Parts: sequence; C-alpha cells; structure tokens
Amino acid sequence: MKNSNVKPAEGKLGIMVVGNGAVATTFMTGVLMARRGLAKPIGSMTQYDKVRVGRGADKKYLHYSDIVPLANLNDIVFGCWDVYPQNAYQSAVYAEVLKREDIEPVREELEKIVPMPAAFDKNYAKRLDGDNVKQCSNRWDMMEQLRQDIRNFKSAQQCDRVVVLWAASTEIYVPVDEQVHYHLSDLEAAMKADDREHVAPSMCYAYAALVEGCPFVMGAPNTTVDIPAMWELAEKTQMPIAGKDFKTGQTLVKSGFAPIIGTRCLGLEGWFSTNILGNRDGLVLDEPQNFRTKEVSKLSTLETILKADEQPELYSDYYHKVRINYYPPRNDNKESWDNIDIRGWMGYPMQIKINFLCRDSILAAPVCLDLCLLIDLAQRAGRCGTQRFLSFFLKSPMHDYTRGEEAVNHLYRQHTMLKNAIREMGGYEADEEID
Ligand SMILES: NC(=O)c1ccc[n+]([C@@H]2O[C@H](COP(=O)([O-])OP(=O)(O)OC[C@H]3O[C@@H](n4cnc5c(N)ncnc54)[C@H](O)[C@@H]3O)[C@@H](O)[C@H]2O)c1
Repeated sequence: MKNSNVKPAEGKLGIMVVGNGAVATTFMTGVLMARRGLAKPIGSMTQYDKVRVGRGADKKYLHYSDIVPLANLNDIVFGCWDVYPQNAYQSAVYAEVLKREDIEPVREELEKIVPMPAAFDKNYAKRLDGDNVKQCSNRWDMMEQLRQDIRNFKSAQQCDRVVVLWAASTEIYVPVDEQVHYHLSDLEAAMKADDREHVAPSMCYAYAALVEGCPFVMGAPNTTVDIPAMWELAEKTQMPIAGKDFKTGQTLVKSGFAPIIGTRCLGLEGWFSTNILGNRDGLVLDEPQNFRTKEVSKLSTLETILKADEQPELYSDYYHKVRINYYPPRNDNKESWDNIDIRGWMGYPMQIKINFLCRDSILAAPVCLDLCLLIDLAQRAGRCGTQRFLSFFLKSPMHDYTRGEEAVNHLYRQHTMLKNAIREMGGYEADEEID
C-alpha cells in the first residue's frame, strides 16, 4: 500500500444487521461460505473490482484492498435484531433463496446468530406479526435499549469496531418535517415526547449506532438518516452514514441503461417499470403506505440522469411509472419488465423492452458486503456525515437537499466517485472529473 492515511483494519469488525430476513441471511451465509472457500463473493466490488492508480508508465490496476486497508472477511462477526425469533440458519432456510447444500456447511455458525428483540412499531409495518419485540416506554427508551444491545454485542464478541446495517422491512413513508427532522435538538425532544408519527423505529437504531461510535447504513428507502438532524448527529459523533435503498435489480438496470439514451441524445416519451415479487419484502410492500416509500425512491432515478432543464426538447415531459406487485409463487425470484418509449430522428417513435429475471437477495448480498466494508473504511479514514461515494450502491442516494445539491444516479458517474474516493483514501490523486 502506498501512503494511505487510513487507520489499519485491526481486530474484529462486528456487523450488526437490523432484520434477519432474506437479504440479511443471504449476505451472512455468503460471507461465511466464502471465507471457507466454499462459495465465491461474485458481484462484490470490494472483492473483485480493480481501480487504476497512477498515470503513464506508473499506471497500475489494483484491487481495493491493495490501495486501502479493508477489513478481511475472516474478521467479520455478525449480530442481528428481528421481529421473529428464528436464528439465521432457520431464517435462511425459510427464505428459500439458497439451496440447502449452500447453507448446511455453515449451519453451526448461522445457528449462533440469534436475533435480539426488535425495536418495532407495528404501525410501521402492519403485515408483520412477530413477537420478538422490545417493550419500550417511549422512543428515547427504545434508542437507549438499542445502545445497550450494541455495547453488549461489542464486548461479548470482542469487536474492535461495529457497523450497523439496516436490511429490515421498508417502513411506511415518513415525509420530512422541518419542525422535527431539521435540528438534532428537535429530534431528541420528539424522541423523549414519544412522537411516534415522526420518529420511526429505524431512527432509534441510527441514533443508537451513531452515539455508540458505529457507522450506519440504510438499505431500505426509509427516511431515517436522510434528514438534517441525523446529518448533525453524524457530524457531532464524527461518524459516516449512507443510504438509501440498495440498488440491485431494476434500478441498477435503469441507472445503467438511461445513460445510453442520454448519451446518444435520443428523446424519451415514457418509462414504465413493473415487477412481480413474492417474498416477505413483497408482502410488506403490498401495503400502500409502505409501497409509497419505495415508489418515491424508485422514481427519483431518471430525473437526475435525463434532465429536462438541460435538454427540454428531449426530456421535458416523459411519463415515468413504477409498480411492484406481490405475487407469492415467485418468492425471492423477482421478475421485472421495463417498457421504454423513445424518440429518434425527426421524432420517430421506437420501443425498448427489458425483462430481467433476477434474484433479489443474490443481488443485494454483495451490496451489503461492500457498503459495510467501505463505510468501515470511511470511518477509519476520519470521514463523517453522508458518504456520497457510496451512491453507486444505492437507489436513492443521500445528498444535501437543503442546499439544492442533486443526487448522482448515473451509474458510471457513481463509479467514478467510488474509484476517486478509494484513490484519495489510498493516498493517490483523484484524477477523473465528474462532468
Ligand atoms: N433484495 C433487494 O434487492 C433489495 C433492494 C433494495 C432494498 N431492499 C430492502 O431490504 C430490506 C430487506 O429485504 P428482505 O428481502 O430481506 O426482506 P425480509 O422481509 O425477508 O426481511 C426483513 C426482516 O426485517 C424484519 N424487521 C422489520 N422491521 C424490523 C425492525 N424494526 N427491527 C428489526 N427487524 C425488523 C422483518 O421481521 C423481516 O424478517 C427491505 O426493506 C427491502 O425493501 C432489498
């Protein structure tokens, strides 16, 4: 390694996952299998991608771990919370994402990952009926109990560092409210006053994580850390945060495909995206208030790639629609369809159809790994607040909307931001301009 000024990744890295469902258990099982050499962590940037460093004769392409000190898979210890009491082995079997032969070799390790009672409020996910739930007198007490969980886990597992990752269900939509969400003191007052409408359980997890010195990643589209009060807390505690919503299937395709239309200056009339999905995530999203959170996240992708203000003749009036349909027979094997109506020379219409038969959790697991390893890296590099270089992994990347900052959704610009951050933390020059 050149002259990286990042603290070394010494000791164990605890990854405490909120939610022990399909994504979480596919992620955990894959890491445990990979470190025994029984599976390959395909799709993970931290394990496969190479970044160019240097120029001319000094040019080299290096893996991230040869540029910056990343935690090793062997040093990861998992913990979790869930509304249901099943351990990670039982939950992985229930999820039916992985074949039994890909779970059994690490059964004993998975059985030891037993969810702590969840900080939960049924109003935030009506379709869930598990009873492994904390009794809390108010939101502040909920947060204090989570802080205690983090401390207990850290000392029991002898972790050097802990990252908290939300891979739990999507909560109902919580619109940003300036009275509660703009200042940390207002948010704290609302937690103490048990304002359940404005303080989601996920905010208690995030608050607890940050004050315990743990970076926090939001993998669902929940508002949680995407509010100025949490940015203030991240600054105060000097902790990095990232979110929202893992970019996995349809939106990954959208953010990679929309640049084709924009780069060739083709016009867009409309983009219709629909999905069928039958896992528990699909069940929760079948509830309109929960779907609203996802819809806002999924809709935000196109408007920052195909911009009306830059190309009014091409993009001023396109129709963008996203649907998710709960369809149990498909379980985790989501199928998505995109119909794209474009315009070419002299306005002549054309259509593009994309049909992606994906596996939701198989796409999400490497994103979980990369987000955890990279936010741990960011913390050791002394970075705090929103980590925009992690936008590459997120459907609705956080940005400072109070200052008119725009999200970067364009997949290749996001990749440039990621590579530049790795270069900078590795002591190299960040030399690709994002235009
Ligand atoms: N798989 C993907 O491609 C993808 C992409 C983007 C986002 N996501 C998001 O990731 C999340 C997880 O997806 P999944 O397929 O694993 O869902 P899942 O339903 O299998 O698992 C979620 C788990 O979270 C638990 N949970 C809910 N609220 C909780 C709380 N307050 N505290 C602790 N546990 C709680 C549920 O009991 C459930 O077991 C969802 O929010 C989903 O929208 C997934």
